[in-house]
Amino acid sequence: MTAITAESFAGKSVLITGGMGFIGSNLAIRLVELGAKVTVLDSMIPDYGGNEFNLYPVSDKVRVNYCDIRDENAVTYLVKDQDYVFHLAGQVCHVMSLSNPFPDIEINITGTAILMEALRKHNKNAIVVYTGTRGQYGASVSLPVNEEAPTNPKGIYEISNLSAEKIIKVYNDVHGIRSVLLRLSNIYGPRSQMKHSRFGVVNWFCRVALDDDKIQLFGDGTILRDFLYVDDCVEAILMSALTPEAYGEIFNVGSDIPVNFRELVEAIIKVARQGKWEFAEFSAERKAQEPGDFYSDVTKMARMVGWKPTTGLEEGLAKTIDFYRKHRDKYWTRAGEPVVSGSKG
Ligand SMILES: NC(=O)c1ccc[n+]([C@@H]2O[C@H](COP(=O)([O-])OP(=O)(O)OC[C@H]3O[C@@H](n4cnc5c(N)ncnc54)[C@H](O)[C@@H]3O)[C@@H](O)[C@H]2O)c1
Repeated sequence: MTAITAESFAGKSVLITGGMGFIGSNLAIRLVELGAKVTVLDSMIPDYGGNEFNLYPVSDKVRVNYCDIRDENAVTYLVKDQDYVFHLAGQVCHVMSLSNPFPDIEINITGTAILMEALRKHNKNAIVVYTGTRGQYGASVSLPVNEEAPTNPKGIYEISNLSAEKIIKVYNDVHGIRSVLLRLSNIYGPRSQMKHSRFGVVNWFCRVALDDDKIQLFGDGTILRDFLYVDDCVEAILMSALTPEAYGEIFNVGSDIPVNFRELVEAIIKVARQGKWEFAEFSAERKAQEPGDFYSDVTKMARMVGWKPTTGLEEGLAKTIDFYRKHRDKYWTRAGEPVVSGSKG
């Protein structure tokens, strides 16, 4: 169990794959604050989560390499001499993964293998943190869901995350590359893509409220989730990287307070002081993938890493909404691109 201090990452070299995206950019900003030498790898595939504006507070302090995680030469070059590798690059849209499985297979599975091979050959001393998804469990057998629960993923995205996790675990166990395997719940907060509703449901609902449009609540709104503010997620990533007992272990990273979607939407409208909502039918695709109630048991993270979420839902939503109100022009659309409309979630 290791607390983050001013010395923890000072002068350390870190690589963040997917560092132009939502969680990766928040992580990069925090690591720069902590004095780390940060390199970001990101391919900026259109419609994925990368946004150059995400790194604006630290743009002169971060080395950005625009390349693909599947580019063996670039990855080999970038992993050398890194103390930590935070692996967050990925295709993250579970809806898309059902109609086209190949980006998930190529980016999330093959890309992870390329990264781990590069580490095996060129930098076995780096400490790796991987951010998988709670979707790896599929439908919950009992609640809250702990790390012993069976994994029955309901989509290709989730399968690809589980495969990536298992690949990294092999490199931890067989090749001695110390790695932490996180399974994140629904993360929300500043720096998520806000152009379309295909992933990032809480952030998308915030956008619809800020547009004073109607949030569409699928089903009857009673499905439970544990929504986690991104700063808490970043602390979990960093604290687990610093905890030797965590290497080779799988951890849930979520909130210990389950909230249903109706409560979430009402909280967003209350905090934003605008927006409306209505019930809507699930699309067939979304219904097939919906795992039902899910909330994480995060006691293992508390016990072994000493991490606990500290941001309440309304507090996190207030920070999120404030950020997007200020920077709406950077997130609703990019220069020259049409605004994607619609109020799905
Ligand atoms: N946000 C969540 O709620 C959540 C929940 C569970 C798991 N995760 C996982 O956490 C990680 C980060 O998620 P996020 O929400 O920040 O997503 P994001 O889409 O905002 O960030 C992912 C980044 O990876 C980059 N990327 C995609 N394909 C790439 C490739 N081939 N080469 C290099 N870069 C590539 C994207 O451009 C983007 O900047 C992902 O692995 C995701 O599956 C996120």
